[in-house]
Amino acid sequence: MKISFQHINKWFGKVHANNDINFTIPSGTIQGILGENGAGKSTLMKVLTGFYQADSGEIFLDDKAVTISSPEDAVMMGIGMLHQDPLDFPPMKVIDNFLLGTRGGLFPNRKQVEKDITRLSQEFDFQINPDSFVETLTVGERQQLEILRLLWLGVKVLILDEPTTGISANQKEKLFATLLKLASQGLTVIFVSHKLEEVEQLCSRVAVFRQGQLVGEVMPPYDTDQFVYMMFGKSVEVADKSTFRSEVPYIKLENISLEDYRLRLRDINLEINCGEVIGLAGMEGSGQRLFLRMLTGLMRPVGGSILYGGHNFTGRTYPVFQKAGVAYLPAARLEEGLIPGMTLTEHFILSEEHHELFVNQKSAIDLTEDRIREFYIKGTPASQIEQLSGGNQQRALLALLRNKLRLILMEHPTRGLDIESAIWIWSKMKERCKDCTSIVFTSSDLDEIIQYSDRILVFFGGLVSKPIDADTTTVDELGQLIGGKGW
Ligand SMILES: Nc1ncnc2c1ncn2[C@@H]1O[C@H](COP(=O)(O)OP(=O)(O)OP(=O)(O)O)[C@@H](O)[C@H]1O
Ligand SMILES: [Mg+2]
Repeated sequence: MKISFQHINKWFGKVHANNDINFTIPSGTIQGILGENGAGKSTLMKVLTGFYQADSGEIFLDDKAVTISSPEDAVMMGIGMLHQDPLDFPPMKVIDNFLLGTRGGLFPNRKQVEKDITRLSQEFDFQINPDSFVETLTVGERQQLEILRLLWLGVKVLILDEPTTGISANQKEKLFATLLKLASQGLTVIFVSHKLEEVEQLCSRVAVFRQGQLVGEVMPPYDTDQFVYMMFGKSVEVADKSTFRSEVPYIKLENISLEDYRLRLRDINLEINCGEVIGLAGMEGSGQRLFLRMLTGLMRPVGGSILYGGHNFTGRTYPVFQKAGVAYLPAARLEEGLIPGMTLTEHFILSEEHHELFVNQKSAIDLTEDRIREFYIKGTPASQIEQLSGGNQQRALLALLRNKLRLILMEHPTRGLDIESAIWIWSKMKERCKDCTSIVFTSSDLDEIIQYSDRILVFFGGLVSKPIDADTTTVDELGQLIGGKGW
């Protein structure tokens, strides 16, 4: 299906999120969309899928002017979107999630749907079991589920808003191959991403946005520097690799064993030094999350002990860890980290340790304004958290971290951040390392893991590697281990 945007304008209060957008996406293409955080990418996609109505302008599908008044409407017209933060999954099984999407008409046959899900899962090499509960799926698996569901609903346009975080390199390859196949069959794919190399690898054309406007369209061969320049109006460089690790171990894990209903990790021994950054690599669901949650007290080990600064913390609860200076930034920012419906100011009030600090609303707003400035959040103290763009939500999450911390645990810390912001956030984190804060983080981006870690642990099917020195390993080597080779 061919899509044409004509003079699309969308305002949110004073923010001109889409400023006179004109461009056409031919059918059978994979259209890349690039742009800094808050550039208006998601807004345009939400206008196309009926979540928002444009204030002015028109959309044409196969040269016919259309009015798309709701997401259901969009799906009926063949347009499906995979959202940046897959939310709102009620406590139900995968199969019921599929059945829910079919409205009216013939009552779908449960057995048939089950078969369809299994077939689609196999085609993409996703491991989605129709009978598992959606709430037990990881962020990555939920994204997979959404892709399958939209394809199953028969969409002709598939919009993916930053889809590749949380899925393994292997699954990403399969996903890309499938997107290419779908495009060759005439499906239109719109791929919104901050990962330039993915866009370059996958997309047959790219539109670049900045501050609500379409800066330009680019066809292959691509030039990465040109993209960066178009996105930011300047070039951006990665800082040199820095380390602030001391030889003083702060955290000691002795013979830790962890278990949940599908994984067992055995006998993990590790010392984390002051100021050290440990990167956790592995396919989603290989135990990294268990490991992080154990370090926060959210998950009790079934064996072994955890020592923080020489004190035994084994079996202690999350609040005790928090008091000791441990902070946890989960991947599902709108489910576990931030609270939809609450303003930025309200978040800062809640996150402050000493609530009496805020004798009045004004000091809360002042602090919020400071943090907005410090973290360059595009928003106001009164902005509700879900009104911020994805990257700005991530900045807010980081801005909520208390000043003094001993250990920061992060899942996909730069997920959804544009390149410049990702570099900036890490510089902020590394500053904390100077004060002896240690960091343990997961990322599906191996370049990020190698660039910012001192040592790396690889997780694979219940195994945890010995710590690997980040200076002497390569993306290829890690990729092999993640895929189960070389153990
Ligand atoms: N519902 C809303 N209410 C108020 N402002 C909004 C709303 N949705 C988006 N905005 C604002 O519109 C601008 C564009 O946001 P959008 O989400 O489209 O950016 P984006 O390009 O997708 O950014 P990111 O890469 O961070 O996801 C931002 O300044 C954002 O704060
Ligand atoms: Mg967005």
